Amino acid sequence: MKLIKHIGVLTSGGDAPGMNAAIRAVVRTAIAKGVKTSGVYHGYNGIVKDEIEPLTMRDVRYIISRGGTMLKSSRSEEFRTTAGRRRAYEVIQNHEIDALIVIGGDGSMTGAKIFQEEHDIPVIGIPGTIDNDIYGTDFTIGFDTAVNVAVDCIAKIRDTASSHDRLFLVEVMGRDTGHIALRTALASGAVAVLVPEGPMSIKELHDHLAYLKSRNKSSNIIIVAEGNPTGNAFEVAEKLEKLHSSYETRVSVIGHIQRGGTPSAADRVLAAELGTYAVESLIAGERGVMVGVINRKLVRTRIEDAVNQRNGLNEELLRISDYLSV
Ligand code: F6P
Repeated sequence: MKLIKHIGVLTSGGDAPGMNAAIRAVVRTAIAKGVKTSGVYHGYNGIVKDEIEPLTMRDVRYIISRGGTMLKSSRSEEFRTTAGRRRAYEVIQNHEIDALIVIGGDGSMTGAKIFQEEHDIPVIGIPGTIDNDIYGTDFTIGFDTAVNVAVDCIAKIRDTASSHDRLFLVEVMGRDTGHIALRTALASGAVAVLVPEGPMSIKELHDHLAYLKSRNKSSNIIIVAEGNPTGNAFEVAEKLEKLHSSYETRVSVIGHIQRGGTPSAADRVLAAELGTYAVESLIAGERGVMVGVINRKLVRTRIEDAVNQRNGLNEELLRISDYLSV
C-alpha cells in the first residue's frame, strides 16, 4: 500500500453551500495526520491547466460559514478527453500529489471514476450538490441549505399570494430529480408538488385546485421541480389557464439563489464528517469510493455504484405529502 503524503482537493460541477466547510475539514484532518494538501482551482480544468497551490491551516480560516467554493468550480470539457486526462495526470505527478479528493455531483464522480481507471491515482469522492441525487448517501452537501433558501423565499411569496388571493407556481432546481421540490413543498405547506418521479397530470392538478376552490381556499402555493415532465412552471401555468383554472395565477422561479448563501448547520456538520472521513479513508488505503452518510452512519460506496444508480425520492415523504397537500 502506497503511503499517502500529499492530497489534492478540488470542487467540481455546480457549487453547493458547504463545499468550503468540506475543504476545511479535508485540510485540517490531513494536517492532523501529517499529510500535505494542495488545492486545485476551477475543478478538473485546474488539473489540466496546472492551477494548483498548497493549502495551509491559515488558508481555510473563516471559510466554514461562506457559501460557494474558495477553490472555484467548473464543468471541464478538456477533462472529458483522454488527452486532457493524460495531461492532468502529468501535472499531478509534477506536483508529487499521491491522491485526489473530488467534491461534487454525479458528473464529477464520473470524472473521478474514469480518471482512476486510466491512471494510477487513488481518488475519493465527497458528494456535494444541491440536487441530492447521488446514490450512496442520504444527503449531499448543499441540499439542506438549498431547501432552506427555497422555504424562506416561499414564505415571502405566500404573503403576496395571500393578499391577492392568487395561486403561485414556484419552480425550484433539482435537475431531473424532485428532492428539493418535495422537501420544500412539505416544509412550506404547498397544496401540490410536481416532480419527475411521480408526475401529476395537468387534469389531476386542475381537479385538485377546483376542489380547493370549492372549499373556499383563496391562495395556494404549488412547487414545480425544474425537471417536471408536464412542463416547467410557466408551461404548467399556461396549461392550467387553458383548462380555465379557477385561480388567478403567477409564476416565480427561484433559480440560482438556491445555490448561494451561508451553509446551514446541517450542511456544515455533514461537510465536516465527510471531509474528515475522506482523508481517513485515503490514509487507510481506500480508493475509488465515495463517502456518505446513511442512517446516520458514515459509509463508503464504490464510485462506480454511486454513478450507476440513482438516489430515489423518499417514498415516506411522498406518502405524507399526499395527506398534507390540501
Ligand atoms: O446541479 C446543480 C444545479 O443547480 C441543478 O439543480 C441545475 O439544474 C443546474 O445545476 C444549473 O446549472 P448551471 O449553474 O450551469 O446553470
